[in-house]
Amino acid sequence: MDSILIEGGNALQGEVQITGAKNSALKLMVAALLSDDPVTLTNMPELADTGFLAHLMRHLGAEVAIGPTGTMQICAKSLGEPVAPYDLVRKMRATFNVLGPLLARKGRAQVSLPGGCAIGARPVDLHLQALTALGAQIDLREGYAYAKAPDGLTGAKISFPFVSVGATEHAMLAAVLAKGETELLNAAREPEILDLAKLLNAMGARIKNAGQASIQITGVEKLHGTTYAVVSDRIEAGTYALAAAACPNSDVLVRNCVPSDLDALWAVMQRADIDVQMGETSVRIRRGPERLRAVDLETQAWPGFPTDLQAQFMALMTLADGASIIRETIFENRFMHAPELSRLGADISVHGREAVVRGVTGLTGAPVMATDLRASVSLVIAGLAAKGQTRVSRIYHLDRGFQNLEANFTALGANIRRVKDD
Ligand code: EPZ
Repeated sequence: MDSILIEGGNALQGEVQITGAKNSALKLMVAALLSDDPVTLTNMPELADTGFLAHLMRHLGAEVAIGPTGTMQICAKSLGEPVAPYDLVRKMRATFNVLGPLLARKGRAQVSLPGGCAIGARPVDLHLQALTALGAQIDLREGYAYAKAPDGLTGAKISFPFVSVGATEHAMLAAVLAKGETELLNAAREPEILDLAKLLNAMGARIKNAGQASIQITGVEKLHGTTYAVVSDRIEAGTYALAAAACPNSDVLVRNCVPSDLDALWAVMQRADIDVQMGETSVRIRRGPERLRAVDLETQAWPGFPTDLQAQFMALMTLADGASIIRETIFENRFMHAPELSRLGADISVHGREAVVRGVTGLTGAPVMATDLRASVSLVIAGLAAKGQTRVSRIYHLDRGFQNLEANFTALGANIRRVKDD
């Protein structure tokens, strides 16, 4: 297995180019299952997760051609048996979203339940409720969802008891080919939802008000192929912005992003005394040698502060002047990075869903490891800001969601490299 070795203490300076969003790309790939025609996705990130989903889609009978420059073409003309086995679903929850499209296309499907993960139990009850409301009959046994809709799916009014990105996307993916009208209430509003609706509409779907809490969908009989560019990854952009903010005397231009997708992050960073200058498709982050100000934070569904940047923000606060209270409201167990950050000298105490981070004047490199993607990258950020050597192991998590991470940080002036473990 590989590790990442960091000699911390360098300022970050220069430019970094952001790729297409992982969490959008995965759902856009699934959407391609809804048409007989080829769907071409551009601005695709090259990640372990997209490769893994491509593997499942091929298993389902889709042809998936991965081009050299962030292009992927998917043709789901001749789908085979609609069965997504445990081994192809368990590693990644987004794979569960094939259930709705398979039901819509084949009238039946058998998809393994994804199970829990490091950040919490993460059930799929809202996904199943939405599909049931659309007329699916679902039976859970032996770790699988066995679903059928012999007469097709029918539009319905679905009111989510709380906001779920995955369930909103799943309902959209199933409802676009359902008969009649569907209304989703208390829907998620994340930019990835809007991206999915834009692709589906480009394929001939009729979705209105995606990106708002109430979405209306008029079912159509068929979707056609199209070419579509994946939205830029707001979490990758925020991660580089926070890395720049963590290293004194940094000046980094984050390019090919949608700055307005991260207003909640910029507001908090500005309160911490970081200079943030937004352009149309880029954002410049500057900070001087002084310590940052500690600020409190609560994660929230869009347009609040994203849970996928909470770990990275905690890394930043470990060196701030004062105490910061960080509250995680989306996932019940998303502070796995806290004890690892403490190994570098951070002062963090966790009480349930709240962490108190008391800023220290310096971190010192140490061996660390993490159990999920965003936690891993928070350790990289802390390592970049620490004195001495940090070894981050189990970096397959990073490869799931960050393309060219070491190369990008090296280009910004960091001393970082990938090594083989003994
Ligand atoms: C998506 O997960 C993202 N993953 C997550 O990113 C992200 O953290 C999350 O949205 C929130 O923004 C992908 O898009 C692949 P949810 P998702 O359904 O859709 C509970 C990353 O690091 N819930 O909005 O699974 C759930 O347990 C990942 O890139 C139910 O109880 O998130 C959580 O507490 C991590 N029942 C809350 O809702 C359900 O049926 C919100 O989860 C569904 C969700």
